[in-house]
Amino acid sequence: MQQQSVYLETFGCQMNELDSELVQGQLEALGYRFTKDDLEADIVLYNTCSVREQAENKALSRVGIISQRKRDGAPIILGVLGCMAERDGKDMIRRHPQIDLMCGPSQLDRLPMLLDNVAKARTSDLAQAVSVGDRVALTGAGSRRSTALEAAEDSLEILDLSRAFNPDRGAKSGGRSAYVRITRGCNKFCTYCVVPHTRGAEVHRPPSEIIAECQQLADQGVLEITLLGQTVNHYRYTHGTAVTLDGREVAQVGPGLKAFRQEHTSAQHATGSRTTSFADLLEQIHDAVPAIQRLRFVTSYPKDFGDDILAIMADKPRICPYLHVPAQSGSDRMLKLMNRGYTVEEYLAFIKRAITLVPDISIAGDIIVGFPGETDEDFQATVELLKQVPFKNNFIFKYSPRPGTVAITRFEDDIPDAVKRERNNHLLAVQAEVSEAVHARWSGRTVDVLVEQVSKRDQAKIGSRGSMKKTLPGGVPLTARGATLDSPVVESSVREPNPEIPAQPVQLSGRTAGDLITFFDSPKGVDPLELVGTIQTVLVEETGVLSLSGQLQPPLPG
Ligand code: SAH
Ligand code: SF4
Ligand code: F3S
Repeated sequence: MQQQSVYLETFGCQMNELDSELVQGQLEALGYRFTKDDLEADIVLYNTCSVREQAENKALSRVGIISQRKRDGAPIILGVLGCMAERDGKDMIRRHPQIDLMCGPSQLDRLPMLLDNVAKARTSDLAQAVSVGDRVALTGAGSRRSTALEAAEDSLEILDLSRAFNPDRGAKSGGRSAYVRITRGCNKFCTYCVVPHTRGAEVHRPPSEIIAECQQLADQGVLEITLLGQTVNHYRYTHGTAVTLDGREVAQVGPGLKAFRQEHTSAQHATGSRTTSFADLLEQIHDAVPAIQRLRFVTSYPKDFGDDILAIMADKPRICPYLHVPAQSGSDRMLKLMNRGYTVEEYLAFIKRAITLVPDISIAGDIIVGFPGETDEDFQATVELLKQVPFKNNFIFKYSPRPGTVAITRFEDDIPDAVKRERNNHLLAVQAEVSEAVHARWSGRTVDVLVEQVSKRDQAKIGSRGSMKKTLPGGVPLTARGATLDSPVVESSVREPNPEIPAQPVQLSGRTAGDLITFFDSPKGVDPLELVGTIQTVLVEETGVLSLSGQLQPPLPG
């Protein structure tokens, strides 16, 4: 059979980016070929997000375009994956008759089976699975119970475990940066949020599997790992309760928050069972996989974030001093209606602890404006919060009512869009000032930068080579498995002369451990692409609202 080509586009958060990577690895292993051009694809897949209406609309407009092509006779298989498939699956497949398959995030390990079923249904009438005409849909049916059980039964685990990470796939930072999931789902039920409905209940992966995955990625040259969970600090694994016959630990449903809170009131081992807390997990990964130069995590929840985690962050040099810890609002009244479970005072107390315990910590966040009933005073309180916390950046969102959430049924979306927009713009302006001050503190200091790419400004200087980098520093060919990296620092003296080195310096960009974007020029005689995916020292000379810039420092002798 001719090799089928797949176009896969991803919307939404890092969870979805990781899911797409896993889906791609899984399908490639089965012989599917991926293309960046949807016009040449036999199969078009959209991995979708439901968190705001706008995110859904983007995916829907893509579905509309492909649907039209199909009506015009193109034999495309059109699939919708991810959170929209979970939230709206059955209705969506009815409203959009050109969609051939839908697959929620908790069912992605079965995508090959679904694709196979569509192909079979096309050639015979042997439609299997849940079929709607000759189309197939597989979602967790929105049932939190079923998704939690599924994950605990380990079926989904297989997708993460069989990960075929490919650094050449154009991953971030020249294949040096990767995501690792620690927790699926969310138990928080913030009233506005669709995520607990689309991703199911909190399920924690066993530490041994997380560490093995980090090790595997490190063996493939990855330098930076970002651990993923909706509320990473709620990670907690109780050993000895969920094991297979051969003694392997499996993912387990998260404990109630009550159990979690006891941990910080020193009743940790009261039950006699051994647990791995989030602080333990960080420490274990850090110590077990020293090749990982940067370990970071998102997203943190402002409550239940113990000093034990902050202490590990301060103590372990390769854990990044970085927190993404959304406040959502600066008004206690709004926080209560959002069911966030903390007050502004508690949020500020947490930030103060973080700043005190972790030197040079970078703090990022999210804010929602125009939540139902938000008055000018509530909004002013949020402005004040932004001025009090040294946020490096905040993602600011206009409230978007989501079907199935508590907020849409209980509260009227009463803030006019014009007011939401105005508040959004106002906060962006306030945040710009705060960001500028945060960046300015780095002036005259040196920072370590994981180099990600040639900056957009200078892409033209390197022509098509930008997408062709396939070697490790020092010219070692980078293969999917077994590549090693002795030193991430490039020493210009050992390199062969390269005829492709641009005559002019080329601007590169990367990020500091605290996730600050940093620009610098490649030195004369050095191929800028050889610096991508390495960690370099930069002396900061200029600072702005969004970034730092400076001079590359020579590697230290010895
Ligand atoms: N688990 C993370 C965030 C996940 S969703 C946390 O609790 O912080 C990412 C962000 O989208 C949220 O932080 C929130 O700011 C925003 N968001 C979620 N639902 C939204 C909605 N209905 N309208 C607008 N913004 C929303
Ligand atoms: Fe959504 Fe709240 Fe869970 Fe974050 S913590 S995913 S905002 S419900
Ligand atoms: Fe969107 Fe689902 Fe992530 S709703 S934000 S893709 S968990």
